[in-house]
Amino acid sequence: MRRISDIKPVEWRDGKIAWMDQTKLPWKEEWKESESVDDLARAIKRLEIRGAPAIGVAAAYGLAISASNSGGNLKTALRRIRDDAVTLGRTRPTAVNLFWAIDRMVKMAERLAEQGAAPEQLKQAMVDEAIMIQNEDIESNKRMGKLGNRLIRDGDVILTHCNAGALATGGYGTSYGVIRTAWQAGKDIRVIATQTAPLYQGARLTVWELKRDRIPVTLITDSMAAYAMKNAGVTKVLLGADRVLMNGDVANKIGTYGIAILAKRHDIPFLVAAPVSTIDRKSTGIVIEQRDPAEVRNVLGKLAITVPDVPALNPAFDVTPNELVSAIITERGIAKAPYRPALRKIVSTGG
Ligand code: MRU
Repeated sequence: MRRISDIKPVEWRDGKIAWMDQTKLPWKEEWKESESVDDLARAIKRLEIRGAPAIGVAAAYGLAISASNSGGNLKTALRRIRDDAVTLGRTRPTAVNLFWAIDRMVKMAERLAEQGAAPEQLKQAMVDEAIMIQNEDIESNKRMGKLGNRLIRDGDVILTHCNAGALATGGYGTSYGVIRTAWQAGKDIRVIATQTAPLYQGARLTVWELKRDRIPVTLITDSMAAYAMKNAGVTKVLLGADRVLMNGDVANKIGTYGIAILAKRHDIPFLVAAPVSTIDRKSTGIVIEQRDPAEVRNVLGKLAITVPDVPALNPAFDVTPNELVSAIITERGIAKAPYRPALRKIVSTGG
């Protein structure tokens, strides 16, 4: 059996949250740790921790820290948890997993407070719940991997965008989980990874993960996607999501929408892998995070590639309309159009 690596981007270590600083990859594997929610919020904003499920897991640990830091009074603890939930919720607006995890943690704290739990009990329960969120995410990724593997054929050339690997999740990968499951099953697959400008999650992180697992990968610039589909034998597009609406629209890293249009033009299946925690059951709309234009004017905060102060757009995500999506792989099944009934069935079954 082919071996694959084991990476968890965040961990609970003796009352602290530890994370691998993803801004340092692929050059350095640097771990940081803290028992401050403000530090954690800063790390999420800076993309030291990034990827929809990973920021959800991190926020859950953040609220476990809030509970641990709030002394012996239940009322004070609850107030602090609620305040910190607001701080963490303000870090990144698009990925729904963040709000899903915060909501789950706050609701649990409120339930325990109502039951008159002892403060020590609350602290322990918050830590246990956050660990459970991470473990459940890994399990759901593995399940998605198994289900998604049914769609992968021997010889597939898979184009992916951004990073939806172990680094972006509790620790296995959504779309990358499908790729590594297919690889482990012995399928002869190759990956084409886009660089994913402006922050290069594809070049820096996806390639790093694929290399560790010895899965063949070729790097392209984002603008080569059409060429790769026409000339480099792409047979599938497979990527993750930050938010899936009940109608099947998918928010994911900027550039995804363009790739979906190209896939349609070239008759290539466009597959999305996302856990149920990424499905926005309320579907009230998608807020697209707008980041600092300086990220577009400078390469990774170092090299200036244009004239100073030229206006630049920097939306971190875009929305792919459902008619361009061939299937959405979740841990509870694979949804296909019409998405509303298919996703309704998925969210209403199981946990
Ligand atoms: O800005 P990022 O790096 O957090 O964006 C991440 C993505 O767009 C991923 O594709 C998405 O979160 C799926 S993660 C399993």
